[in-house]
Amino acid sequence: MTDWKKIRSDFPITKNMTYFHSAAMSPSPTPVLNAILKEYRKLHTQGDTHWTKDIKKFRKLCSELAGMIHTKGDDVTFVQNTSSVMSLLAMTFKNHIRKPFNIVSMEDEFPASTIGYEYQGLDMRYVQPVEARYPIDNILKLSDRNTLAVVTSHVQYATGFRQDLKTLGEELKKRGILFIVNATQSFPFFPINVRSMNIEVLSASVHKWGFTGHIGTLFYTSSLFRKKYPSPWAGWMSVAPEEGSLIHTAKNTPFRLHETAERYIIGTYNLQPLLAFQTAMDYLKTIGFQNIRTRVMELTDYLIRGLEKLEIKITSPVARKKERSAIVTFTLEDKNKQCIKTLAKNKIFVGARGEGIRVSVNIFNNFEDIDCLLNVLKSL
Ligand SMILES: Cc1ncc(COP(=O)(O)O)c(C=O)c1O
Repeated sequence: MTDWKKIRSDFPITKNMTYFHSAAMSPSPTPVLNAILKEYRKLHTQGDTHWTKDIKKFRKLCSELAGMIHTKGDDVTFVQNTSSVMSLLAMTFKNHIRKPFNIVSMEDEFPASTIGYEYQGLDMRYVQPVEARYPIDNILKLSDRNTLAVVTSHVQYATGFRQDLKTLGEELKKRGILFIVNATQSFPFFPINVRSMNIEVLSASVHKWGFTGHIGTLFYTSSLFRKKYPSPWAGWMSVAPEEGSLIHTAKNTPFRLHETAERYIIGTYNLQPLLAFQTAMDYLKTIGFQNIRTRVMELTDYLIRGLEKLEIKITSPVARKKERSAIVTFTLEDKNKQCIKTLAKNKIFVGARGEGIRVSVNIFNNFEDIDCLLNVLKSL
């Protein structure tokens, strides 16, 4: 039996407020804060003397994360954010594809998934939602012979709709269409298997559900993708040094990039908190991801029942469990703004997203938190 009370006590935020805003950013539990402090203390007292060891630790972390999405360590690294990933892909496609092509994405995507492509002037086509869902048939209908890629979130940020990546990936593979997934609102809570889902590129900004703040984005590319599409950017850390040297310093001499995903790390990055992310992953693994999913479903079931009792309109598609996530959105129509203000006065924090009020539940929330929210809604 999981001691949820103990887990809650690792999150001091629960003493200050009722926090339903993890889909914006999860607070860090005490063990993660301690790991961040430890890394900075190391820097404080020993400077850069741990660089080589730290890079090894970072590679080990990447390998572990790669295992979680069923690929190898070589395919996974970190970049600054999902927007960088999508911009990088947009530049890649613009540079290397000569014939006309289009990219299909979803109308409700968080703009990090789409701005980069639009900025490069690529032909973007958007699938319209049907009651906040994206039926796979509709995605395929919008795709044609010129569709290069489908870009979709695993979980939609505003509604929590969770896409069936396996079925979509199988269909795209049959049609030779690249599958690009933004897993920011699902990783690491919901399982991803890049192989069986035929995902070529995946991006997951871990400040949402990674409990370590803004440390960057997990970035996966298949080895085939890297072979086919040269990186549009490079820096000293992308270059495979010549044998016996630490880095490539010669000028106007040929060099080649790492064959691994490390080619996308162009220079130094925020290593200290990234190393603490290992502690966050260990913390979640100890609880168990299946266990976490069950808890999230129990809490959201309770919330959905409560909202239904109050006859509040739920805008998330919640009829099918396999399409649900940690996000539930509802609306009080023209009273949404007032509702968010009243909730904040009662120290209850939710998000205003799309047309609705977004509640995201996390491992530190309990049923009493949901009662607090429902009681305020009742009073409104
Ligand atoms: C689905 C989704 N993708 C990406 C982001 C963040 O994008 P970036 O990592 O570029 O800041 C968010 C929220 O901020 C999001 O909800």
